[in-house]
Amino acid sequence: MTINTEMKVRVAKITQVADKVRRFRFERVDGQPMPVFSGGAHVIVSMRDGPVLRRNPYSLMSPPGDTSGYEISVLRVENSRGGSAFLHEKLKEGDTLVLSQPVNLFPFDHRGRKHIMMAGGIGITPFMAMMDQMELEGRAFELHYAVRTRSHGAYWKELQQRYGAHRVKIYCDEEKLFIPVDDILQNQPLGTHLYVCGPAGMINGVLGKARSHGWPKENLHSEEFLAPPPGKAFQAKLARSARTIDVAPHQSILEAVEAAGIDAPYLCRGGACGQCETTVISCEGDIEHNDHFLEPDEKASGRKIMICVSRIKGNAVTLDL
Ligand SMILES: Cc1cc2nc3c(=O)[nH]c(=O)nc-3n(C[C@H](O)[C@H](O)[C@H](O)COP(=O)(O)OP(=O)(O)OC[C@H]3O[C@@H](n4cnc5c(N)ncnc54)[C@H](O)[C@@H]3O)c2cc1C
Ligand code: FES
Repeated sequence: MTINTEMKVRVAKITQVADKVRRFRFERVDGQPMPVFSGGAHVIVSMRDGPVLRRNPYSLMSPPGDTSGYEISVLRVENSRGGSAFLHEKLKEGDTLVLSQPVNLFPFDHRGRKHIMMAGGIGITPFMAMMDQMELEGRAFELHYAVRTRSHGAYWKELQQRYGAHRVKIYCDEEKLFIPVDDILQNQPLGTHLYVCGPAGMINGVLGKARSHGWPKENLHSEEFLAPPPGKAFQAKLARSARTIDVAPHQSILEAVEAAGIDAPYLCRGGACGQCETTVISCEGDIEHNDHFLEPDEKASGRKIMICVSRIKGNAVTLDL
């Protein structure tokens, strides 16, 4: 069940912006303006790929106030289960697909005196929209952007031209240049907020350092583009619907539930928002928790599961769905 109104859009433009990164521009089919969003928001892109309906979250990178269209940038992941492969290899200009309304789980804090953003690879996307908004609002910010090679890094030249090399700093693995996290964290005015988006290792490393330098947790913000590992097939018994469904190795429980025609709530499909939290009635096996939402004691209790990203290792799970 989508808890917001979906929008049918046409692919207005596809641009290859870096190795394995494509930008997609979407405009509404009904000619209506897109809703204004805030920097850091994402949409759920629903893709009809033959018999399969794929739904992935993507951060909006276009200017938040531009209601003529939305833009996303997508990395083609190795061994894709389908979404990024579909967008790179099958979607063409003129095709239509469906977007959710924007949802922001990674907004910047308006009380911040200064905003430091650290991006790894494709984690640059939410910061593109955030910087546009911060510039318009006259806020102090800096971006530290780590890329594997300059050709893998999308947008760094454009960002440096727009905001100046003093505010947009690039670090390239290939050139043995890394973000000097400790130096940056130690030299900031009180009231500075830190935002990290990139691989889990980078997020955990940066936030760990920030905590060890005494940064308050309210000033630390992160978003991971979570795509958890597949597993073995199992059955989900849905107590309220009196149905038993098969969850395939490369499918989330949420996807299996939707494929069976049953509504389940979601907002992020990335284990962060809490919307898909489901009560586990019983489990023949162990729950593999892959989310960032449940507290450790809730995970340990075995009574809750976030069905967009978590699965079980075992034969069957009975859910209050
Ligand atoms: C808030 C948010 C914003 C994002 N923004 C961007 C962005 O701007 N650009 C970008 O390139 N990527 C972004 N991503 C990542 C993106 O949503 C996809 O994960 C990525 O494109 C890879 O998708 P894929 O379908 O190719 O492949 P895979 O990563 O192989 O598969 C993802 C699919 O696996 C399913 N799945 C989830 N958990 C399990 C599980 N435990 N077992 C089996 N299947 C499971 C999911 O439902 C999803 O459809 C974002 C993710 C989040 C959460
Ligand atoms: S939909 Fe957000 S945590 Fe599952």
